[in-house]
Amino acid sequence: PKSAELKGQHWIITAGPTMEAIDPVRFISNHSSGKMGYALAKAAADLGAEVTLISGPTNLAMPSGVKRVDVKSAQEMLYACRVAAADQADVFIGAAAIADFRVKDVATQKMKKQSNENEMQLTLIKNPDIIATLSSEDAAKYFIGFAAETQNVVTYAKDKLEKKGLDLIIANDVSRSDIGFNNDQNQVVVLSKDAQWTPEKASKTELAKHLVNIIQTFQTEQPK
Ligand code: C5P
Repeated sequence: PKSAELKGQHWIITAGPTMEAIDPVRFISNHSSGKMGYALAKAAADLGAEVTLISGPTNLAMPSGVKRVDVKSAQEMLYACRVAAADQADVFIGAAAIADFRVKDVATQKMKKQSNENEMQLTLIKNPDIIATLSSEDAAKYFIGFAAETQNVVTYAKDKLEKKGLDLIIANDVSRSDIGFNNDQNQVVVLSKDAQWTPEKASKTELAKHLVNIIQTFQTEQPK
């Protein structure tokens, strides 16, 4: 029988990369697989939560029992999150790897090679910070973000926790090739303003269950 510990809660989870158009046939993106976000969506749904998974382009199968909204760009992702959070969500988890910048003027026609030029320039402008924006709008009761760092993991993650208005931040060291980005295994440290959890290194599926448990513990300890 399915557990119903999270019954009545709406969780919104972003996952995957974003894809920022250059012209109708080209884009800027990154190597995020979406695995961690999809695993979290499944773990929360398995405990009875209503889950909206807002996903950039991935090759992953849709987890059962989850409502998936497909988006491409960061701007579309922010819009879809706001629609999903029209009634304040219980939990928002930002697992997506959002492009920091997008192309300022997207060409409406395919850009042609200039045969006399060896260089070309694209002007980029900053994308919105989705989780920070939603936190400032109180779109959910609890905000959980990720921090992929290559050094000073805890210090930088705590800084992000504060700056983005998060309750919990899940930090990992992406300089290690055995965990993280595009890997099935992951090891993280979870930080709140004044507590810390270190779940064991595990598959993203197993880790997702531990992370959902940590979020549940936090909800009980800090009711909102
Ligand atoms: O600043 P940084 O990209 O390291 O922060 C990572 C966290 O912030 C992740 O939870 C990510 O989903 C979220 N983020 C966001 N919007 C952005 C950039 C990051 O929601 N534009």
